[in-house]
Amino acid sequence: MKYDISVIPGDGVGPECVNGACTVLRAVEKRFAHTFNFHEYLAGGAAIDKFGVALPDETVKGVRNTDSLLLGAVGGPRWDKCETQRPEQALLGLRAELNVFANLRHVVLFNALKCACPLKDNIIEDGINIMIVRELTGGIYFGKSGKSADGSSAFDTEEYSVFEIERILNKAINVAKTRNKKITLVDKANVMESSRLWRRVAEKIFAQHKDIQIEYMYVDNAAMQLVRNPKQFDTIVTSNLFGDILSDEASQLAGSIGMVPSASLGEGGFGMYEPVHGSAPDIAGMNKVNPIATILSAAMMLRYSFNLDYEASAIDDAVTAMLDKTKFRTPDIATKESNIIGTDEMSRMIAQYVECC
Ligand code: IPM
Ligand code: MG
Repeated sequence: MKYDISVIPGDGVGPECVNGACTVLRAVEKRFAHTFNFHEYLAGGAAIDKFGVALPDETVKGVRNTDSLLLGAVGGPRWDKCETQRPEQALLGLRAELNVFANLRHVVLFNALKCACPLKDNIIEDGINIMIVRELTGGIYFGKSGKSADGSSAFDTEEYSVFEIERILNKAINVAKTRNKKITLVDKANVMESSRLWRRVAEKIFAQHKDIQIEYMYVDNAAMQLVRNPKQFDTIVTSNLFGDILSDEASQLAGSIGMVPSASLGEGGFGMYEPVHGSAPDIAGMNKVNPIATILSAAMMLRYSFNLDYEASAIDDAVTAMLDKTKFRTPDIATKESNIIGTDEMSRMIAQYVECC
């Protein structure tokens, strides 16, 4: 089969990560006789430099004509002083324009990386596997905001409609059905009216899904439980802001934020795939960044946008094999026993495992 994939390398370590993921996708092409046509577009700081805007129309139009989007990362201190255009606007703009309202962040602690996880063995037990379903196109990120004329006050607003809550909960239910059928809805219903609406909508929806175990948890408690007893979680569903914060926290359970991939999905097959980590400008261009989060995001693309489950598993298995059978590690997941390698070497080795496993 033939697939058109948009690629936005972005800023900082983004291009190195995307390059690594494309190397692995080329290996999938070879082994399974698919054709991936890559179409490169600019967004973020790179687009500000070239066009003066973070998200050019041409990028949105081009991406819309393809089957999926692979994105590296955007942003960096170089553009922090730009008053009107910020690289992050490209990310929020793409999410909104492409209507990818459900962001799946998959936190897995690979067996070989147990020593990179900061939690004790008796808490980790046989491993960690949590899917965070973060609402991505609503809430405080997109609500009314502003500041007073004299700059003495400012505000942001958390607002959710029943429609928005229903569709993200339904997505979480579909995801949980492919997993252990347990959902934790994380909110702040003891304080926030919008959270109470989430609960009311959830109670109605879950009444029709008796096969799913639903649990409600306040976000402050969830932040604590993630490090106290992470194994109680299977699928977490939550708002845009809470999902942003909890997914960075949860990334440490995987040993490094460099291990956590994501898929942003809408109603159709199109998806936007990116690592959970940012542009890491301090190590940009140094061949040091861990490409695994982006490589696993490419695997999610095969699974969720192209329905290529077997091929997606081939990438997941290649990453597992590389970690199990070798001591090669990028610096973020290295221990004293590791052999440190760079982004390119790591990507090529994973690609080799994809080709010959
Ligand atoms: C993320 C990032 C973004 C977010 C930033 C870069 C705007 O932190 O994808 O988690 O807050 O959504
Ligand atoms: Mg974040």
